[in-house]
Amino acid sequence: MPVDSSQRLALLRAEIARHDELYYRQARPEITDYDYDRLKRELAELEARQPELALADSPTRVRHRQAMVTLDNTYDELELREFDARLVKLLGEPVLSYVVEPKIDGLAVSLTYEHGQLVRAVTRGDGEEGDDVTANVRTIRGLPHALGNPPWPEFIEIRGEVYLRWTEFERINRLQEEAGGEPYANPRNLAAGTLKLLDPAEVAQRELEIVLYGLGHCEPAMVSAQAELHAQLRAWGLPVVEQFWPVAGIEAAWAAIQELDTRRRGFRYGTDGAVVKLDRFAQQAAAGFRGAGQAARKLSPRWACAYKFAPDRAETRVRAITIQVGRTGALTPVAELEPVLLAGTTVKRATLHNADEIARKDVRVGDTV
Ligand code: IVH
Repeated sequence: MPVDSSQRLALLRAEIARHDELYYRQARPEITDYDYDRLKRELAELEARQPELALADSPTRVRHRQAMVTLDNTYDELELREFDARLVKLLGEPVLSYVVEPKIDGLAVSLTYEHGQLVRAVTRGDGEEGDDVTANVRTIRGLPHALGNPPWPEFIEIRGEVYLRWTEFERINRLQEEAGGEPYANPRNLAAGTLKLLDPAEVAQRELEIVLYGLGHCEPAMVSAQAELHAQLRAWGLPVVEQFWPVAGIEAAWAAIQELDTRRRGFRYGTDGAVVKLDRFAQQAAAGFRGAGQAARKLSPRWACAYKFAPDRAETRVRAITIQVGRTGALTPVAELEPVLLAGTTVKRATLHNADEIARKDVRVGDTV
């Protein structure tokens, strides 16, 4: 590759990153939108001429200081009680302290703050390393780039979920369909697609949100229990869960899960279950992981369990099947439904995607669906 263009490319990327920072983070742009667009266009042209340079633009992989593991799911109350029984035996305490939290239906990310400043945002990836999505996460309006209320640790990884509210999901999907594109299946897919966009200006057009609930590596250690972590995150001014339940024993945990199920439809984000975690970090460490010695994505903590709620369902009738015409002329069949309340929203229409899908599902006017 000619030295000139690779140098120019590096310069352009650095300049664009600098202007993104000025625009999104400091809200004091130094150049006009026109000049910014010119830089972006030059970069795009350079990459188009030399695709081998564009490849270098695939997201940078970043290693997590502490691996991001996932949870075992259960839909079964009995399994939840077995989870507790195992821990009671292992830790030799009859009544354990747990925290019950909503299980947020979003996209896991890890934020790193150094000396109180947001320096990095990374997707979970394979649990060991993920994609650097810092520029995109910085566009999230509710997320402070600097922590409030010191003291702060020198280094901390804070874990949470990026999500889209239902109304925002619908708004973007409407635009998407009008432009002749395929609608996204659910807010989670759309949030994932948005985080991967190459242009933070485009990401900023979509109102991503974030909620934080977990701890990765922290130096020096500042909290010693999960309930304490929630309080600390809140004190730093970070977006946190509306509610969590510190409880003693599995009976109280089960009652909290029932209460969560009655409240969760009022939360800002979608929830598909509850997470029960041992409160004290020392006990978490003592309980450890199943699958030790394996890759991070196969590790599962013995100290936490996800209880999933049965998905929301509702029945209604197909009033009509209509054809929607997108801005580019793309035709999409749509089922017009008797309005029905589902997952906190009134559903009146459902995409049938295409003729094959109608045939496959055998949907007809008057059917109960
Ligand atoms: S704790 C070891 N808490 O669900 C604990 N996860 O498989 C790991 N999630 O990867 C996560 N809400 O992406 C935890 N309150 C919550 C959560 C939560 C959603 C996600 C997370 C995790 C997956 C569980």
